[in-house]
Amino acid sequence: MPRAQQIRSRSISASPFLKWAGGKNQLLKDILPRLPEKISVYYEPFIGGGALFFALASQRRFKKAVIGDRNPVLVDAYQTVRDDVEALIEQLGPHAAHATDAEYFYWMRALDPSSMSRVERTARLLFLNKTCFNGLFRVNRRGQFNVPFGRYKNPTVLNPDLLRACSEVLQGVDIVEGDFEALAERAGPNDTIYFDPPYVPLSATSSFTAYDRHPFGRSEHARLARAYRACLARGATALLSNSDCEETRKLYRGLWVETVAATRAINVVASKRGQVNEVLVVGRRQSAPALRQVGASGHAVTSSSSLRRSRAAG
Ligand SMILES: C[S@@+](CC[C@H](N)C(=O)[O-])C[C@H]1O[C@@H](n2cnc3c(N)ncnc32)[C@H](O)[C@@H]1O
Repeated sequence: MPRAQQIRSRSISASPFLKWAGGKNQLLKDILPRLPEKISVYYEPFIGGGALFFALASQRRFKKAVIGDRNPVLVDAYQTVRDDVEALIEQLGPHAAHATDAEYFYWMRALDPSSMSRVERTARLLFLNKTCFNGLFRVNRRGQFNVPFGRYKNPTVLNPDLLRACSEVLQGVDIVEGDFEALAERAGPNDTIYFDPPYVPLSATSSFTAYDRHPFGRSEHARLARAYRACLARGATALLSNSDCEETRKLYRGLWVETVAATRAINVVASKRGQVNEVLVVGRRQSAPALRQVGASGHAVTSSSSLRRSRAAG
């Protein structure tokens, strides 16, 4: 990368380059203080838009990171941003000029990504992601992206500085495609892992959990709870987000569970969008981390927290 570009990319912090359902931007203030200040290896097996990963990277909190997701299209995009950012910026430029053009959107949507290069595929994904309805990622049975046009007035399709900042922090990061369990098994003593799965739905219509063709149902949540406990047993610091409901509280019974308030924008029923409670499972009851707030400098300072601490039901 030319030196002038390198200097420019440092002026902006890395943050999600994709809109992603369930993004954790608004909960960063609750999650960041609950993670160790210095992390040797950071694992995030449900990376999605990567809000927490990018925040930790910007604060230089980890030495090494391993991120993953079951969605191959998403993993492909992270790898492209890491390995080929300048080619991606060049490829995306001409598409960005059509950000408000519905006809162009549907033409792009109809293209078959399997016949494209990795850079072309990622440019298409970024274009569709920024111009489709709510930034949703949804595919039909044949794996074809099927979200309608979003009708935004002036969406930012191409932000070269942001892409370069993301690429910079992704250097050396292991980006793996697959189920969370394989990645969770790698987290050992002194490592830190954050799980942000598709949430347990609060009702049949209340939550968006269809990130890809595979549902994330009861058996997946039970498997996840076992993987979470196994990480703790191996001595890792483990944090997990989920919806605040009986099923979650049952699964994490005996562990330290905190309640946080979030506003959720992606809901099938528009009138039900709004404030909901979520939980953060922060480890064993007796070893709940002290509440700390991390300032802009990345240093921890003692604070009184607005969080309600609560024991898991039972
Ligand atoms: C709630 S989102 C993560 C949001 C993310 N923390 C953010 O800030 O944008 C859940 C992610 O889990 C992924 N996923 C679903 N099932 C999975 C599985 N079995 N293993 C790994 N990832 C999975 C989805 O593709 C989706 O990207």
